[in-house]
Amino acid sequence: MDLELTDQVALVTGAASGIGQHLALGYAAAGAKVVVNDINADGVAQTVAAILAQGGEAMAAAVDITELSNAEGMINDATKAYGRVDILVNNAALLTEHTMYLETDPASCEREIRVILFGTMHCTRAVLPGMIERGHGKILNIATDAARIGQEREANYSAAKGGVISFAKSIAKEVGRHSINVNVVSPGATNSPMRINLQVGLKEKLGEERWLAREEKVKRLYPLRRIGEMEDITNAVMFLTSNAARHITGQVISVNGGFAMVG
Ligand SMILES: NC(=O)c1ccc[n+]([C@@H]2O[C@H](COP(=O)([O-])OP(=O)(O)OC[C@H]3O[C@@H](n4cnc5c(N)ncnc54)[C@H](O)[C@@H]3O)[C@@H](O)[C@H]2O)c1
Repeated sequence: MDLELTDQVALVTGAASGIGQHLALGYAAAGAKVVVNDINADGVAQTVAAILAQGGEAMAAAVDITELSNAEGMINDATKAYGRVDILVNNAALLTEHTMYLETDPASCEREIRVILFGTMHCTRAVLPGMIERGHGKILNIATDAARIGQEREANYSAAKGGVISFAKSIAKEVGRHSINVNVVSPGATNSPMRINLQVGLKEKLGEERWLAREEKVKRLYPLRRIGEMEDITNAVMFLTSNAARHITGQVISVNGGFAMVG
């Protein structure tokens, strides 16, 4: 299937590392022009350099999306450079604490909600007027199965992501008449550098044998008996932001090896 992403303009937030970076490289390989956003300027420069090295086209947008004016400036710069933004992927996120809710720091709770929920809302507010004017656009929010079924020690993160899911459904209803699709991909555990680093720490803490037993136990929670890889997520995102998915909107698609089966 040809996703026809050539010459599309795709903006990916949180693209300095992990799934966002993998996605930015994927769009570029498919012929799209990519706007690489992240608060981590060095990581943004690395992603842009990797895209240019593979013969693709990309521009840097190293801004903090928790400020609406930054999101608006980023869309203006992208529009000046590439004429428009066709695809917005709200991927940037922060998981600061893996702690029971009452032990979490209210300040880090606020930061998680600002990055995940307000970041998504600000970028959407900035990109929508142009999409409405042109009568087409694709918005894809990255959530988490922790938001769909609940997850202890991730209450702040899952609350913010739950907001992202509800926001996507409401916006899908508002802008469907302009041929703008708004969907959500909800990953289960995925081997991004963030998860791999967490596992390295756990292995040091538990020792090799106990860590392996724990990892096997985790895999048994997944009917497909595997942890996701970054391409599992980016394949779904690229499909949902292509015209092959033109009749899909307001949906939440879990990409999770069957971990949570939400009706
Ligand atoms: N890896 C997993 O197991 C997993 C599971 C479920 C959901 N997810 C979701 O997938 C997405 C990607 O996760 P990842 O594992 O690649 O994590 P990651 O930490 O590598 O990527 C998140 C990126 O967001 C950026 N970011 C943070 N605050 C920002 C801000 N204010 N402005 C701009 N950028 C900012 C970070 O610098 C980072 O580069 C996230 O939305 C995450 O919640 C991941």
